[in-house]
Amino acid sequence: MDTPPPPIVDFNALTLRIGEEALSKRLMMEARQESDEMKQSLAWVQTFHLRIERVLKLVGLYHRGRRNSTKIQIIENTLPIPNLPAAFEGFRLLQLSDLHLDIDPSLPAAVVDALKGLNYDLAVITGDFRCRTIEDYYPATLATQPVINALKEPILAVLGNHDPIEIVPHLEARGLRFLVNELYPLEKDGQTLWIIGIDDPHFYQTYDLKALTNALPPGACTLLLAHSPEIAPEAEAVGINAALSGHTHGGQICLPFGIPITTNMLRNKKRSLVAGNWTWGKLRGYTSRGTGCCGVPVRFNCPGEITLHTLTSIE
Ligand SMILES: [Fe+2]
Repeated sequence: MDTPPPPIVDFNALTLRIGEEALSKRLMMEARQESDEMKQSLAWVQTFHLRIERVLKLVGLYHRGRRNSTKIQIIENTLPIPNLPAAFEGFRLLQLSDLHLDIDPSLPAAVVDALKGLNYDLAVITGDFRCRTIEDYYPATLATQPVINALKEPILAVLGNHDPIEIVPHLEARGLRFLVNELYPLEKDGQTLWIIGIDDPHFYQTYDLKALTNALPPGACTLLLAHSPEIAPEAEAVGINAALSGHTHGGQICLPFGIPITTNMLRNKKRSLVAGNWTWGKLRGYTSRGTGCCGVPVRFNCPGEITLHTLTSIE
């Protein structure tokens, strides 16, 4: 079946939300990514993935890797947050990350299946909806729909380095609420946990964390949604309390005991930031290994995850 063409994107509405400067920067970087020169210079990435796929097929591991990629683990995690308002003690936050659901037609159903029966108060998705970093993003919006249908609203989301900003209105029309350098006051029993959602910190970096935190009331408790944990030092410097990320895929193809061969981090490459709970100074954080996968639709020694965070206060 042919994929229908994407609807028209309302850039005026996006400008009102994230500002002209950030939107121009984003669109300029996207255009550069889509240029013929850049496509040619990035062709090696596709060749590299094809070679990995071929080698895995030759040694008879490819199908095992694909089966592994649809065996998604449910991770129960306690997330300590300094300054957490009492009303949010025990609050349950479900995190999906790095879905890349257009890579493999069997992946959306595997995620929907894994979501069945889970108990949570709020769902968040920490970026990377599309598999490739260029070209048509619309198949990713279609592939994400069943997962959105399986989640309880509101579902907060941020963009990853694989996502064009044009995907925002499409996925919002399907039920997501993106935070593109925006604040979201989460209210419970008269108290507020401020969710800060920023544009991808790995590649696009259009955010201004200082401006966002300056707009908060004094003493606000803050939880940052940012695609990559590379943001940790900047987030700690502006006094953010906790952060949720993905991006690394935990390595995706790992050596035994989950030792990653590559993490796709360009800066602040601290091993502790690659997966699970971490601290950076006073900042508490968690990096998801990702729910889906990209490049090659396989996982080894590094299962995809859906994370259920139970929030708790810490001094
Ligand atoms: Fe990703």
